[in-house]
Amino acid sequence: MGLVAASGASCPNGLVGQSGCYVPRVKSYRCAVLIREATDADLPVIAPFFREIVAEGETYAFPEDLDDDGVRAWWFEDLPGRTVVAVDDDGTVLGTAKMGPNRPARGSHIGTASFMVSPGSRGQGVGRALAEHVVDWHREQGYDGIQFNAVVETNTAAVALWKSLGFEVLATVPGAFESRRHGKVGLHVMFLPLR
Ligand SMILES: CC(C)(COP(=O)(O)OP(=O)(O)OC[C@H]1O[C@@H](n2cnc3c(N)ncnc32)[C@H](O)[C@@H]1OP(=O)(O)O)[C@@H](O)C(=O)NCCC(=O)NCCS
Repeated sequence: MGLVAASGASCPNGLVGQSGCYVPRVKSYRCAVLIREATDADLPVIAPFFREIVAEGETYAFPEDLDDDGVRAWWFEDLPGRTVVAVDDDGTVLGTAKMGPNRPARGSHIGTASFMVSPGSRGQGVGRALAEHVVDWHREQGYDGIQFNAVVETNTAAVALWKSLGFEVLATVPGAFESRRHGKVGLHVMFLPLR
């Protein structure tokens, strides 16, 4: 997509400067994250952490215990949407995001996206790199804004990340998500205008 978010003079891993290369703000762990289109070859890596995240019961209302084909059906977007992965310099998939129109036809000028960073790769800037990529992509594609339909209010990491990128909570649907730890909690509708 021609998205280069940062340059890093001292980056040793050779990714910086490549299309889709992001330098996370937390530089102590990863020098850079390359974001590329997801392919079917990534499914065996994505599917286990997809299942783990859903089974945690704190962030997504996807069905639990999907097989790999089920994960593909829920996570891999067809055009005009897309699914990407964030990989490190040895090609390890650290996280993934999907994006595209929030609604078809007369709703298609507003985008949406979903994110999953593998539990072992959190807190290292991968989610921020994916989120910045998603915002850049929507801008490049000419979307009017990005709507997140169902951000669990107790998902403090996600809410903080989206707010730091300029998203606002428009409304909270009370008790709309049954958290494993907290019981019924609200779902935020969050929005970032791009025009
Ligand atoms: C939400 C998620 C995508 C964040 O990814 P991440 O790679 O851990 O996030 P980053 O390391 O890029 O941190 C980005 C920001 O998130 C917030 N954040 C991350 N971890 C946090 C934590 N443990 N507590 C509070 N805020 C946190 C901070 O605001 C951080 O800002 P910084 O860059 O100034 O430090 C990741 O935790 C995840 O995949 N969670 C499970 C699925 C999910 O919740 N998806 C989003 C649903 S709306």
